[in-house]
Amino acid sequence: MKSLADYGDPTDRATAERLEADDVLAQYKSQFVITNPNLCYLDGNSLGRLPRATVTAVNELMVREWGHELVDGWSHWIDEAQPTGDLLGRATLGAAAGQVLVCDTTSVNFYQLCVAAIKARPGRKTVIIDAANFPTDRFILAGIAEQFGLNLITLNNDGMGGPGAVDVDADCEMITPEILERFMNDDVALVTLQVIHYRSGSRPQVKAITDLVRSHGGLVVWDASHAAGAIDIQFDDWGVDLAVGCTYKYGNSGPGSPAWLYVSKRLQGELRVPIQGWFAQDDQFSMGPFFEPNQQIRGFQIASPSIMGLRCVKTSYSMIEEAGIKNIAAKAAIGTDLMIALFDAWLAPLGFTLLTPRESSNRGGHITIGHPEAKRIAAALRKYANVVPDYRTPNSIRLAIAPLPTSFTEVWDGMARIRDSVTRRDYLRIDDNGSRVT
Ligand SMILES: Cc1ncc(COP(=O)(O)O)c(C=O)c1O
Repeated sequence: MKSLADYGDPTDRATAERLEADDVLAQYKSQFVITNPNLCYLDGNSLGRLPRATVTAVNELMVREWGHELVDGWSHWIDEAQPTGDLLGRATLGAAAGQVLVCDTTSVNFYQLCVAAIKARPGRKTVIIDAANFPTDRFILAGIAEQFGLNLITLNNDGMGGPGAVDVDADCEMITPEILERFMNDDVALVTLQVIHYRSGSRPQVKAITDLVRSHGGLVVWDASHAAGAIDIQFDDWGVDLAVGCTYKYGNSGPGSPAWLYVSKRLQGELRVPIQGWFAQDDQFSMGPFFEPNQQIRGFQIASPSIMGLRCVKTSYSMIEEAGIKNIAAKAAIGTDLMIALFDAWLAPLGFTLLTPRESSNRGGHITIGHPEAKRIAAALRKYANVVPDYRTPNSIRLAIAPLPTSFTEVWDGMARIRDSVTRRDYLRIDDNGSRVT
């Protein structure tokens, strides 16, 4: 496989054009709705673009199925979370059939699996998370710890602290097995970490950490929201037990599209979720007085799935499966290499710092750059430079290559516009826009 250096000087736009000419995924960009061809959309790690095929799929569902079949549609919609889960698992998680459901939100799935894991380790009182984890995971785990009287340890890898914070010396927020080992003992029921850190983009060693926690008798819930669809995940081979993630980032399934959960076959009969909804009932339509859960993946489903949402997921993950996750991961790696090379040449001299690991095997599809004026710079890029990045408090700008809809020249142009906008000091013209969303 060629490396970035084989394509020439990264600061020359012709290098990005050569990368594009060699890109086996190049044709996918035209399969997305792009209303502004001059926009550099570098935020596919937050919300992916809309596939054209999704418009057709949802329209057909409404007209041919819902509109025509009415309630009879449920006879074939009822179990749709499972084949869609199998597709998503096959396309992006390295998961054999029967271990993934597409349902609910990442937050709900996270709560379900964390409580189920803790209950499966009775007598153990310690749960561990890191300070740089996504807020929903930290807040939900803190709530669970309070609810069940557990000892919550927050590994303080970004200086922000949190409940039960203990300082750890982590490079780019990354929790290594060596860092975690100091906190492992036979009181730890659960550890939860991200496969790709939402802010720094770091990628911890999933297999080594899973093995370490298992060797102490605990379980890990992985949040792969920023990883699935950007890197080559192999949950079955890595021996992962439990994971959750969303579908609206690199999965391109739309705002608020249903999330997924992965429960290894090994654990399906052992775990009991706390929200005992009727879709988990083994004989669902017997409507009986007692909850008797299905012992397979349906035992983790709560309620009626959003069929419209599932069709969005089915359409976009069929595209991912066809494109091939190895091709996608390779493009994310070289695309972020290009970003880092341009960061070194253009952005470091303007006072930016790189907050993401330089080695592509230690990151995913986005890089994060720091600047004291990050918030205003991110706003100025949208307003004056036709670049969409995103800002994360306190001083970070994330820049992503979503391998199917983003081209190499789009990345190159985006980086050049960032350089020019900051050189012009566009950000000095930005006042707080008053939006809650950053
Ligand atoms: C790592 C991570 N986990 C969880 C979530 C929240 O997911 P949801 O709002 O779908 O529950 C996000 C959202 O961006 C995320 O980045």
